[in-house]
Amino acid sequence: MRALITGITGFVGSYLAEFLLESGRPEGDGASIQVFGTVRWRSRTENIDHLRDRVQLVECDLKDLSSVRNTLSEVQPDYIFHLAAQSFVVTSWHAPADTLANNILSQLNLFEAARQLRIEPRIQIAGSSEEYGLTYPHELPIKETNPLRPLSPYAVSKVTQDLMGFQYFRSYGLPIIRTRAFNHSGPRRGDVFVESNFAKQVAEIEKGLRPPVIKVGNLEAKRDYTDVRDIVRGYWLALEKGDPGSVYNLCSGKALAISEVLDVYLQESGIKVTVEQDSSRMRPSDVPVLVGDSTLFREKTGWTPKIPFRDTLKEILNYWRARVPTKV
Ligand code: GDD
Repeated sequence: MRALITGITGFVGSYLAEFLLESGRPEGDGASIQVFGTVRWRSRTENIDHLRDRVQLVECDLKDLSSVRNTLSEVQPDYIFHLAAQSFVVTSWHAPADTLANNILSQLNLFEAARQLRIEPRIQIAGSSEEYGLTYPHELPIKETNPLRPLSPYAVSKVTQDLMGFQYFRSYGLPIIRTRAFNHSGPRRGDVFVESNFAKQVAEIEKGLRPPVIKVGNLEAKRDYTDVRDIVRGYWLALEKGDPGSVYNLCSGKALAISEVLDVYLQESGIKVTVEQDSSRMRPSDVPVLVGDSTLFREKTGWTPKIPFRDTLKEILNYWRARVPTKV
């Protein structure tokens, strides 16, 4: 069993690699999985440094079709987990063309390379709850059939990836399974994302590295959070048990206001802070509430999240406590 992860050096990719290496084929014959991952020459590899002797890295620029074709020809994957993407919504406002080009062309090259080589690996496409964008109260919790009303260039790129997955399945029979994961997190999460950013600020305040002022954006937004380790297990199950051509929500079904994320950290820490809205952290159009319904996926695969998200938040805080320097 050969699995290729695009974006293996990213936050989610590193957890998926760990999962595949540790689990073998839990549902199958127990055989071990050979894990391959694409990297670019400038990729930062600290997320997978602890796995370097157990995964095989292949230099590949997903925006270059010949590079992708060579990679697929060399690796001959049974499964492809397509995680590589520009994943920060805010960056997509600053560089919309780059986000669209990167996310859409990379996937197009993956599909075209598979077609040209006449190989048919099962391919998981990492879509996002951001695709739903604007939702109305009567639509919650959101099912896969909900209209897609994307509110950022990032979300448009993910809608395009999603629909392209459908189209390549219908047009050419490529066994593509689309997942729409809602927010997911854990230690190693990039510090631009809210739950990681707030934890880092708290850890810095605890060590006297910054005044007791937490900078925030929109605290009213609500998101549906799951631990990243539960999500990568879901990605695996999607390829093992999902139906090609289908799309599945992966989520907890519980809404958490961003203000509550901050409250958890402040309770854990006990520090007294002033909360200050920073206008640069506000978005031109933010998604107000995302809470999903993953019944379809749970019934198809037996998946269910196992890690309480409050535990995840505590782990993220401890992760940053161990990393921010001590004031000298
Ligand atoms: N980043 C950030 N920083 N967000 C803030 C802040 C802040 O200081 N304050 C409030 N927020 C709000 C944002 O406005 C948004 O409503 C929410 O916190 C979450 O923002 P992010 O953590 O940046 O994540 P996201 O929901 O936009 O996107 C993430 O989840 C998607 C899945 O739903 C990313 O991981 C995407 O790649 C992913 O697709």
